[in-house]
Amino acid sequence: MATIIGGFAVSHTPTIAFAQDAKKFDDPVWAPIFEGFRPVKEWLAKEKPDVVFYVYNDHMTSFFTHYSHFALGVGAEYEPADEGGGQRDLPAIKGDPELAQHIANCLVADEFDLAYWQGMGLDHGAFSPMSVLFDHEAGWPVKIVPLQCGVLQQPIPKAKRFWDFGKSLRRAIQSYPKDIKVVIAGTGGLSHQVHGEGCGFNNPEWDAQFMELLTNDPEALLDKTVVDLAKLGGWEGAEVVMWLLMRGALSPKVNKLHQSYFLPSMTAIATMLFEDQGDATPPAESDEALRERSVRELKGAEELAGTYPFTIDRAVKAFRINHFLHNLIEPEFRARFTQDQEALFAASDLSDEEKELIRSRNWIGMIHYGVIFFMLEKMAAVLGIGNIDVYAAFKGLSVPEFQKTRNAAITYSVAGKK
Ligand code: FE2
Repeated sequence: MATIIGGFAVSHTPTIAFAQDAKKFDDPVWAPIFEGFRPVKEWLAKEKPDVVFYVYNDHMTSFFTHYSHFALGVGAEYEPADEGGGQRDLPAIKGDPELAQHIANCLVADEFDLAYWQGMGLDHGAFSPMSVLFDHEAGWPVKIVPLQCGVLQQPIPKAKRFWDFGKSLRRAIQSYPKDIKVVIAGTGGLSHQVHGEGCGFNNPEWDAQFMELLTNDPEALLDKTVVDLAKLGGWEGAEVVMWLLMRGALSPKVNKLHQSYFLPSMTAIATMLFEDQGDATPPAESDEALRERSVRELKGAEELAGTYPFTIDRAVKAFRINHFLHNLIEPEFRARFTQDQEALFAASDLSDEEKELIRSRNWIGMIHYGVIFFMLEKMAAVLGIGNIDVYAAFKGLSVPEFQKTRNAAITYSVAGKK
């Protein structure tokens, strides 16, 4: 079974990344950042977790046109996002799609309505602390399952919802059947405001009180509204709810191994490190019962002949080809697709098998591979083929034969004006 060995809370300001990339390790102005992070880094190096479940918020970098509250990263790999100055010089970090799938099953069974994402970069909210906490020049020694919390566009969920999410997350990880060590990271905060005339707000007294409550009486924080937290810690400081999620995923009592606080400029840079103390009593629902409940909705799907549910597993395995076909919504891409498909293939990251599936218009082969039907509908529209042709091909019938199975012999596509 998977084990939660502990959790840490860290600020995720861009200053941390700047200090790391500019190698300000011995500069007295910047050194306190590294001093604060060092005990967490050393603990992680000693404990060697397999996975960091990383709770953060993106800063309108990868999440902008779609903004959701709890967005679980399910991808196989994550690159640093370009936030305006190019990507940071960091290797991509591996995800853990299998663990993400299990967590999604459990959290959705507990009625948390998650969003799933992959193929987008992690911004400073994730890589700023990660790059200081782990040696990574030769590749990251840990996998990441990121949870992007949409805390910037109001309304957002209540503080208690973040806490409850943490509680469900704890049971999800504990019931994961693989023997892996997981650490929970809660990031963001503490007190700060970066926008408007109110920018520059800090409240070190509240920050100290918050860290004390988070350790010993986190439930005292659950009734605070967004505005309560903003009055105490500045508007952007209200993102401490992500620390609360991390704390909710730990044991009721924790062993605090480290705490630091440093306020160089706009944002209090703080770290906290907690060792999990395990559960005093066994959970009310056994791991086995939770696993059973988590897959209840899809149980028996394999008995539906000719049916291929688009699961996280399939979405990750077939991401490249689905992503390629999704690009057909761009006029320039689809012009290249029809005019010189081989050149487009050569410039793509598709495997030979994936190229051949598209080249040969192997509609049912693509479904078997993991392509979702709605990409095929786009591809058909670009090629001037009707949906009916695709349905007929799925069933190994000619179009007239398939039309005979319908009430009307019509054909149509999603081709819009074309
Ligand atoms: Fe943030």
